[in-house]
Amino acid sequence: MDTLATRIKLNNGTSIPILGYGTYKIKDAADAYSSVKKALDLGYRHIDTAAFYENEKYVSNAIKDFIAEGKATREDIFVTSKVWKTELGYDKTLAAFEKTMDEMQLDYLDLYLVHWPSSYAFDDDWKNTNRNTWKAMMEIYKSGQVKAIGVSNFLPHHLETIIDMDVIPAVDQIEVNPGFLQKETVDYCHEKGILVEAWSPLGRGKSLEHPLLQELASKYGKSVAQIILRWEIQHDILPLPKSVTPSRIVENSEVFDFELSSDDMTAIDEIPPYGNSGHGPDEA
Ligand SMILES: NC(=O)c1ccc[n+]([C@@H]2O[C@H](COP(=O)([O-])OP(=O)(O)OC[C@H]3O[C@@H](n4cnc5c(N)ncnc54)[C@H](OP(=O)(O)O)[C@@H]3O)[C@@H](O)[C@H]2O)c1
Repeated sequence: MDTLATRIKLNNGTSIPILGYGTYKIKDAADAYSSVKKALDLGYRHIDTAAFYENEKYVSNAIKDFIAEGKATREDIFVTSKVWKTELGYDKTLAAFEKTMDEMQLDYLDLYLVHWPSSYAFDDDWKNTNRNTWKAMMEIYKSGQVKAIGVSNFLPHHLETIIDMDVIPAVDQIEVNPGFLQKETVDYCHEKGILVEAWSPLGRGKSLEHPLLQELASKYGKSVAQIILRWEIQHDILPLPKSVTPSRIVENSEVFDFELSSDDMTAIDEIPPYGNSGHGPDEA
């Protein structure tokens, strides 16, 4: 049976634990530290942060202390951060990365992502902005300070602006929740060998209210959150649920001991838009 430490291969040969722990909106230093520590204690080995979350330092302190306590090695833990959308372009991306490394004080990151693409909607030179940002990302990757690079919130037309460059993104982290599978982007990524990660995998809690999902939860004897995370995993999408509540952190990790039938997968696929954020990359 898979566990939180089970890894899958990325397109550059490195590997990533199959479910991650999200840290958005855990800004308070003590909360960020204690919830990441809790997640690590409970077996999570994949932590997702970003410069924008203003918690890189506390997240990283929790990871470093966990390692110092002898509970894991640095290699056991997969750490992601991201360059924010105000820092796109070659020079700014390099500077943003330096700042992240200063905050986190780790020898390396496992994954560094471009948090949002540049878009025609707000940048006349959006294609070049994406290419220049990606040039910096490739340089960071080639320096050995990150094990893999990727993107986030890139739809196929954004990916097309960089897909011919030397390094193909290893990951695209996009919003996925029931009613918002983003199938076109998922299919594009899978065709190109890009792993899709799901942000807001639970629709920030809203998805949990859906009646069909509640019915399936009773049918499988699982919680609604577990049904949703399982649906994402069976679509080969890597979910990053966030919770500061210890019982939920545990609940979100117990998704490897059951399987949804293909009929139930299809039924969830067919849910109309429900709990998604409504924030897209082509908006200013
Ligand atoms: N790349 C991007 O642009 C982007 C954007 C957004 C998020 N992200 C990443 O994705 C991660 C997850 O997304 P998210 O934080 O937006 O939303 P989410 O994980 O879908 O939902 C988090 C919310 O659901 C609640 N929750 C979690 N597990 C639950 C459970 N088992 N039962 C009931 N409620 C539960 C949490 O409450 P409590 O915490 O109070 O327990 C919290 O309010 C983020 O933390 C971040 O790392 C990335």
